[in-house]
Amino acid sequence: MNQSNKHEKYSIQKYNSIARNYDTTPDGRMTADFKAKMLELCKAKDGDFLLDVGCGNGTLIGALKRKANVRAFGIDISPSMIDECKGRYADIDFSVGSGEKLPFDDCSLDVVVTCCVLHHLNEPRNFFREAKRVLKPSGTLIVAEIWLPFGVRHIFDLFSPLYKAGDNKLFSHRRLKGLFAENDFCVTGIYKRGIMQIVKGGVAPFLRLSHDGNVASKP
Ligand SMILES: C[S@@+](CC[C@H](N)C(=O)[O-])C[C@H]1O[C@@H](n2cnc3c(N)ncnc32)[C@H](O)[C@@H]1O
Repeated sequence: MNQSNKHEKYSIQKYNSIARNYDTTPDGRMTADFKAKMLELCKAKDGDFLLDVGCGNGTLIGALKRKANVRAFGIDISPSMIDECKGRYADIDFSVGSGEKLPFDDCSLDVVVTCCVLHHLNEPRNFFREAKRVLKPSGTLIVAEIWLPFGVRHIFDLFSPLYKAGDNKLFSHRRLKGLFAENDFCVTGIYKRGIMQIVKGGVAPFLRLSHDGNVASKP
């Protein structure tokens, strides 16, 4: 089993097993604050197309859908989480899939959000590349992640393989912002409090390239 499959396999096992009672688990309780802040920071408009990557049981995308008349989508690697979502929100399109390969057309979405998922991915750069591909030139990406101080973070990273919970590596604030810049997103907002870090960015239109490497849109 390669590293990529290992993180995915353990994430599927863990989140399938807690999907039913997710909101009362430590993960569910910890992410509640993150989701409340994301909801505040996400300014979706009527008619927008919104995607939540690693949507869990659908709480965030469900709340975003109630806030504006948007077309909403959720994707998660755990089939049981997606079953929960489908049982709760009939007016949202949910599918099982990886955050590293998004099943959406180029330039088809207005907003992509993801909450506490990045540290599960084998290669977070794949997520950013995909987010850039699926977002429209005016699109917005909002990423929430757990932040821990340097020493604690490194201990977590060292021991996380032992727990087999699908965790890869946590992010320093600098690394998270760096991923936005590396993938041609301009950072438009930063929120940091306690263990919560949220970065909001927009696609930089003048840097946007189509798949064949040609400039797709200019300023
Ligand atoms: C900590 S939970 C967060 C769930 C939700 N975003 C929330 O805030 O309540 C992490 C979620 O990421 C999902 N996940 C893990 N690896 C994934 C991957 N490679 N692609 C998509 N989802 C993934 C898990 O199944 C789980 O639902």
